[in-house]
Amino acid sequence: MKNIVVLVSGGGTNLQALIDAEHRGEIPNGKITCVISSKTDAYALERAKQNNIKTRVLVRKDFADIASYSAAMRDLLLSEKADLVVYAGFMTILDEQVCNAFKNKMINVHPALIPSFCGKGFYGLHVHEEALKKGVKVSGATVHFVTAECDAGPIILQKAVAIEEDDTPETLQRRIMEQAEWKILPKAVSLFCDGKISVENGRTFLHE
Ligand code: GAR
Repeated sequence: MKNIVVLVSGGGTNLQALIDAEHRGEIPNGKITCVISSKTDAYALERAKQNNIKTRVLVRKDFADIASYSAAMRDLLLSEKADLVVYAGFMTILDEQVCNAFKNKMINVHPALIPSFCGKGFYGLHVHEEALKKGVKVSGATVHFVTAECDAGPIILQKAVAIEEDDTPETLQRRIMEQAEWKILPKAVSLFCDGKISVENGRTFLHE
């Protein structure tokens, strides 16, 4: 059974999707053992507590710089014996100390079809604002391994979602969550825990 540690910063609907999938028996080889938040008031912490999942808080501004924050996060993840680290709306970019310690063991869900609308500054609603500004007809979500370069690690799963003419950033965000993120994140976590993802030369291969 793999220990899954989930990193959050906000509302935690992706965390909820993972909790629900685990309860439905869809992640038979993994268990969410800890939720770590970068914000003290993240609603995601409430979701964890309601489901008797251990919580920890590591606030970025309590640390002098990203290097000391990343070192503390790496040590916390090691002490929690994380086999898989999931960024579920986690909004702080961690440096290579964490990425190297958990190489190909950290995954992120991003609310666009990478390599579109990704990288530094593309997070949360901003992603959807930029997609609508550009006028793309299709967006979606991507689950990928985390590397030190933001949103650039090997892609595991993607799902496209059609954009509608009257979409606002909020309606598009919600539809991408419902139709894509809440489905492909639990699926990728389950594949990982089953040992069904391999990585070669920056590409993933799924052994379903
Ligand atoms: C989700 O849409 C997630 O993909 C996005 O933030 C939202 C968090 O919602 N993450 C990023 O933009 C990371 N670059 P949640 O807290 O309800 O899961």
